[in-house]
Amino acid sequence: MLISNDDRLSFEKSSPGRLGVSLPKERYAKTKAVSGVPKNLGRQRPVEFPEMTEPEIIRHFVNLSRKNFSVDTHFYPLGSCTMKYNPKVNEWVASLAGFAAVHPMQSASTVQGYFQVFYELEQSLKMITGMERFTLQPAAGAHGELTGIMLVRAYHRARNQSQRRKILIPDSSHGTNPATAALLGYDVVQIKSDSRGRVDLDDLKHHLSHETACLMLTNPNTLGLFETNILEVTKLVHQSGGLLYYDGANLNAMLGIARPGDMGFDIVHLNLHKTFSTPHGGGGPGSGPVGVKQHLAPFLPLPWIVKEKEQYALIEKADQSIGRVGSFFGNAGVLLKAYVYIRSLGLEGLKQVSEDAILNANYLKEKIKPYFPVAIDEACMHEFVLTLKAEKEKHIHSGDIGKRLLDFGFHAPTVHFPLVVDEALMVEPTESESREMLDQFIDAMKRIRLEIESNPEIVKTAPHTLPISRPDEVLAARQLILCYRDQIREKMLTPTVLPV
Ligand SMILES: Cc1ncc(COP(=O)(O)O)c(C=O)c1O
Repeated sequence: MLISNDDRLSFEKSSPGRLGVSLPKERYAKTKAVSGVPKNLGRQRPVEFPEMTEPEIIRHFVNLSRKNFSVDTHFYPLGSCTMKYNPKVNEWVASLAGFAAVHPMQSASTVQGYFQVFYELEQSLKMITGMERFTLQPAAGAHGELTGIMLVRAYHRARNQSQRRKILIPDSSHGTNPATAALLGYDVVQIKSDSRGRVDLDDLKHHLSHETACLMLTNPNTLGLFETNILEVTKLVHQSGGLLYYDGANLNAMLGIARPGDMGFDIVHLNLHKTFSTPHGGGGPGSGPVGVKQHLAPFLPLPWIVKEKEQYALIEKADQSIGRVGSFFGNAGVLLKAYVYIRSLGLEGLKQVSEDAILNANYLKEKIKPYFPVAIDEACMHEFVLTLKAEKEKHIHSGDIGKRLLDFGFHAPTVHFPLVVDEALMVEPTESESREMLDQFIDAMKRIRLEIESNPEIVKTAPHTLPISRPDEVLAARQLILCYRDQIREKMLTPTVLPV
């Protein structure tokens, strides 16, 4: 979190000698130093914990949290990032000692319950996506992409098709798609969108060849539109000998309605931390399982979970596997919460999730479009994109509107993405919001429209109600201040080399 200089002065709450907890002296005073730790690795100076009472600490953190926006406190319409309500029953199950106190190195016989969850989650994801096998290991969507494209590489290598060096990616894609392909050394080929925001079939045909390794496609795409030519797209890519990768980060619009497996995709990743409802943001915790059709199953990362005579076990070796993509068995807590979410809703409930998400997005779109134009004005799926290119002339950008929304108590929507839309502002209301909440958001957008006409300065300089207003976003990302005290921060920024 960024804090101003004034805030920093009042941020130091420590007072020498104050205690939060008193531990029985006779029990802890004589604790011996851990033996065997080399001297140069030991602590050089006493640890500098803030000295505070318990009420002071509680108030400090509660007050900090109240300066924040979260799904539990505000409407969070973050396009392409599905920030939906996370049912608390998921958290309750994940906190049960039988799950929370398990160690990943326990023997298989002592963690049969967790293994059952993994096994059954895999079966559910197969049913939801139409794929034939899953790995639950990747820890995020981008990690799922990396795993998926490693599978593409392994598949082509095994068939002596290593000349397939090109990965085709539509220009509306999420940045992690080209980044993944480039990271694995592939040539990224951009495919144009047509005038309706879908894959331009002529451009796709033009780029397909015996060098095509794969097409990575997000469906619904990042404009919130279903790829209406999807069957034609998958047919064309397969005819060229390439594989089809489905970026399933937007599956919140598809549950129980359509399945990537039925559309012809070979590989799919899901973002459990979005569609299957576990809290995320600020980098985690996430989970990006990857599903494949049978012809890619031998390459899946290890370990694999299997069920033999009512017992669950892990397979740790397989000749063609790409190996491990993470330690142990993935982000177990997130997998568990997704499992609870799926089991408590059932297939019918999941279908309703997507139908409500689509309904909410279309309701908002129709009500907002008289005030701000929609980039592609068609029925949308779970999200839609406005274009504020006309406001540019008044030197108002989509980011300014995002910031003004903060003053009205809404988390800012995604701005300047997707890149194919000039001054994009992308809204995903999700299924969790009520009609009243959507109407409040519509009112705020109407009010911002009036302000743009009558008093644009108030929009350009927003937010006016928060502790900080317009930080240097690049600097904030490049020079993260993770430590609350200046001296400690300086020490951290100057690496100390300890004598060996
Ligand atoms: C379409 C799409 N693909 C991939 C990702 C990457 O997922 P993650 O943030 O979990 O790495 C996102 C995340 O926003 C996304 O929206």
